[in-house]
Amino acid sequence: METAIKTEGLSKTFKGKKGTQVNALIGLNLEIQKGEIFGFLGPNGAGKSTTIKLIMGLIRPTSGSFSVLGLTVSSDEYKKHIGYLPENPSYYDYLTAEELLHFVGSTFSMETTEIEQNSEHLLKTLDIYESRKRPIKSYSKGMLQRLGLAQALIHDPEIFVLDEPMSGLDPIGRILVRNLILELKSKGKAVFMSTHILNDIETICDRVGIIINGELKRIVKIKDILEKDIISYDITFSSTNNEPEILNTFKGQFSKRVDTFNLKILPQDLTKILSNISKDKDITLHLIQPERKGLEHLFTEIINEK
Ligand SMILES: Nc1ncnc2c1ncn2[C@@H]1O[C@H](COP(=O)(O)OP(=O)(O)OP(=O)(O)O)[C@@H](O)[C@H]1O
Ligand SMILES: [Mg+2]
Repeated sequence: METAIKTEGLSKTFKGKKGTQVNALIGLNLEIQKGEIFGFLGPNGAGKSTTIKLIMGLIRPTSGSFSVLGLTVSSDEYKKHIGYLPENPSYYDYLTAEELLHFVGSTFSMETTEIEQNSEHLLKTLDIYESRKRPIKSYSKGMLQRLGLAQALIHDPEIFVLDEPMSGLDPIGRILVRNLILELKSKGKAVFMSTHILNDIETICDRVGIIINGELKRIVKIKDILEKDIISYDITFSSTNNEPEILNTFKGQFSKRVDTFNLKILPQDLTKILSNISKDKDITLHLIQPERKGLEHLFTEIINEK
């Protein structure tokens, strides 16, 4: 596999007034491959955007270095290989979406017909095509985010650096963007994205790096997390009896909704409870959901490590 981005000991210290300083990033060693979606996860202020701005050359490292597609960065040339979505995208807001994409495309020396084709495809995919002739200043937050993604993708580069791509999107928008990112992966592109949405990481990322206080704590494969043990089962059922017998057997682990019961049980009790349920003719079983350790568990575990 080809390395898309590699950082070596990448560090950033922000110096403030009166000698104050923030170690925003401390010795980051990271390697992202082409064909991979890498999620960067960490609490607010952890150093995610700092890392992304360093890679985009918007700020200079205090120490350490990085390379893009195997080449050590010595000029701005490398940036044409990257599609970048900033944390809070803001654009010349008197332009329309169509004009912005033309402007961005032309800075990458794209032909007009190619810009037009790609713009149409992206605006349609991101469902803002109808608004393409309106000035950006009239866009809602989610529409701006979609436009931000369109401008990151317009020149069809090999690598994508996306700072919270799902931020501000409605559920349908999130699905669109997820699919778009998966499509990039299927074309062999590399995606480096920061996010706070654990579910998005679990569903689309290949690996996740967890960063806290500027330090990369762990890199894990999502596949390994999802295959980990089931810690409990949630069983949802309804009963014509208001106090089904089964609740006496498994006291204290149930909750009642309007017309269903929920029972949380340990994995070893599953067979026993299913047999009890099958014997009770008042009960209708609706759902059995395994709860796995998952990313949330891992993330809180790492946060709580001293
Ligand atoms: N220009 C700056 N000057 C001083 N400190 C800065 C600057 N930019 C970032 N920082 C500090 O660096 C640390 C990391 O910030 P960063 O923006 O990288 O966090 P983040 O992980 O992206 O957080 P969030 O999830 O809130 O976006 C924070 O303590 C922040 O206050
Ligand atoms: Mg950030």
